[in-house]
Amino acid sequence: MRVIAVMNQKGGCGKTTVSINLAAALSSLERRVLLIDLDPQAHATVGLGVSDNEIEMTSYELLMDPAVRIGDAAISVRQNLDLIASSTVLGGVEQELADRMGREERLTTKIRQIPDDVGDIVLIDCPPSVGLLTFNALIASSEVLIPVDASFFSFHGLGKLRETIEVIEGELTRKLRVHVVCNNLDTRTQFSRKMLSEIEKFHSAILLDTFISHTVRLKEAAAHGVPVLELARQSKASRQFLALARELVEKEAKIETENMEEWIEKLHGPKPVEEGILFTLDVRQAKSAAVTGEFTNWSREGIPMKQDTDGLWNAVVDIRPGEYEYRFIVDGVWMRDPNNRDYIRNEFGQENSLLIV
Ligand SMILES: Nc1ncnc2c1ncn2[C@@H]1O[C@H](COP(=O)(O)OP(=O)(O)OP(=O)(O)O)[C@@H](O)[C@H]1O
Ligand SMILES: [Mg+2]
Repeated sequence: MRVIAVMNQKGGCGKTTVSINLAAALSSLERRVLLIDLDPQAHATVGLGVSDNEIEMTSYELLMDPAVRIGDAAISVRQNLDLIASSTVLGGVEQELADRMGREERLTTKIRQIPDDVGDIVLIDCPPSVGLLTFNALIASSEVLIPVDASFFSFHGLGKLRETIEVIEGELTRKLRVHVVCNNLDTRTQFSRKMLSEIEKFHSAILLDTFISHTVRLKEAAAHGVPVLELARQSKASRQFLALARELVEKEAKIETENMEEWIEKLHGPKPVEEGILFTLDVRQAKSAAVTGEFTNWSREGIPMKQDTDGLWNAVVDIRPGEYEYRFIVDGVWMRDPNNRDYIRNEFGQENSLLIV
């Protein structure tokens, strides 16, 4: 499941327009989409034509009441498209949660209640500020989509925004995948073209190929409370949002291989590092893990391993050059290293992994 925060502290750059229309385009590509309106202005709610009497619960109750589950708050608005509505009371959350522990992880807790199905996408329409609501969105997200309009302030704000995201990544100890989409672009004007080329120059690695043009169709669609795909399926805006959805879907395969490569990199047999030899083991549910071998005279306790934030167990052992047999001890059970193809059978018929330092 991908969780994408649509974010920019600059007001009016198109967060809500992108959220609504991208959600509709993704759902028309057969993706199941949940759009969370996390802005007290509730524009995504209004823009999807959801009226007050259809709303029983909003993102406010979702954040404030531990008993409210994400499924309770979601309203089905279209095929493959659910919405968690917002309301003005959401604006009070910042003060109401001011001194509560874990106030920035409230949305994360709720999003974890969604069964993790491949292909499902959660979009979060953030408010135009970097406060508690936006923090909740970023912490719950794997990706950030930043709509940028062709104005100097937007361009200037983008640099600041990336710094903010880096600070949050530092706290999260993980990377957020950031995408920038240019919105409201009038390519007939020289100024728009210049802004686009400036963004290309400084942010090319994260700039999406698709951009959204300036068009009155998007304003009309919002006024009718429908995505532009429903108002004018053949319009340029519809085509652009479908292209944006496809581009993001295509990125998925790349993201998966990158994650896999990162994973393979982490899972390896013993690997020399500066302080010695690094042993790594993927046994997330284990309560304890240790490594033992000829280098510990087969001590029964072994050298304790520590679990990192990804759940992997690691130990660095200072070992002199030579050839060694070793095994892992997981919750008291001895096993060979599943990520090391070199092993031999010992006199008890068990498999010992081999290490050459
Ligand atoms: N590509 C576009 N063409 C024409 N009008 C647009 C386009 N994108 C956005 N707009 C209009 O600009 C205004 C602001 O857009 P939107 O509400 O999506 O921005 P926002 O970033 O969500 O604003 P806020 O910061 O207040 O949440 C709206 O009236 C919207 O209809
Ligand atoms: Mg908005």
